Amino acid sequence: MAKKVTVKTLTKLKESGEKFSALTAYDYSTAKYIDEAGVDLILVGDSLAMVALGYENTNSIGVEEMAIFTKAVAKGASRAMVVTDMPFMSYTIDIPSALTNIGNMVKLGANAVKLEGCNDYILELIKRCTQMGVPVMGHIGFTPQSMNTIGGYLIQGKTEDAVQEIIEQAKQLEQAGAFSVVLEMVPEECGKLVTEAINIPTISCGAGRYCDAQILVCDDIFGKYSEFKPKFARKYGDMKSLILDCAKQYDQDVKTGEFPSENEIF
Ligand code: KIV
Repeated sequence: MAKKVTVKTLTKLKESGEKFSALTAYDYSTAKYIDEAGVDLILVGDSLAMVALGYENTNSIGVEEMAIFTKAVAKGASRAMVVTDMPFMSYTIDIPSALTNIGNMVKLGANAVKLEGCNDYILELIKRCTQMGVPVMGHIGFTPQSMNTIGGYLIQGKTEDAVQEIIEQAKQLEQAGAFSVVLEMVPEECGKLVTEAINIPTISCGAGRYCDAQILVCDDIFGKYSEFKPKFARKYGDMKSLILDCAKQYDQDVKTGEFPSENEIF
């Protein structure tokens, strides 16, 4: 069996300048195939609220739901590192309740957690998690859980001051103990400058080509989620058509008596 990807593996890749890949997954079999394909890190992203549960945005999902998907993905991933996205309000009320929720995800099989934002509270929480043995992935730039204060799905880091602020945040996250940082929807130059400024891997989610890693939502690359496709995502397949074709054919076969055949009965 291939060796499990750990924080150490990713740190070494950053040091040697080798890129790594990350994808979201929400269920056992998808995680298994993504793992088998060689993807290094699987995020149980809160994007599952929209793509797997049909919610309007990511803020509607709770810890109980994230726990179910974490358990399934962790069972499917034998090599890839599994990171659970801590959902909206599950880690921002106070440190004790945050640590309880985070600890539960690890008990269910997560190898690390992702926390959005950078302020004194988040930095303290990262320190406490790291002390209790839970690696933390930071997430700055566009942070979907703060969509209502940001004012929508808006590109961040568009001015020199904003870029400096993002670089400063990345340095603070690194100092607090984060093992990596997701940069979402920032100009490529911003992604490059942050990547050069810190010693932990930067993971681009629409932050350009100079980051140490890339992450995308699995349903976007599979062509399964068709309601919205971000500019930075690439569609590698057309699962929507595949599902439609299979379901239509099955429907027809049942209705015409073509299914089941002699080989499919007892
Ligand atoms: O929830 C999610 O899918 C994310 C992205 C970084 C991929 O947070």
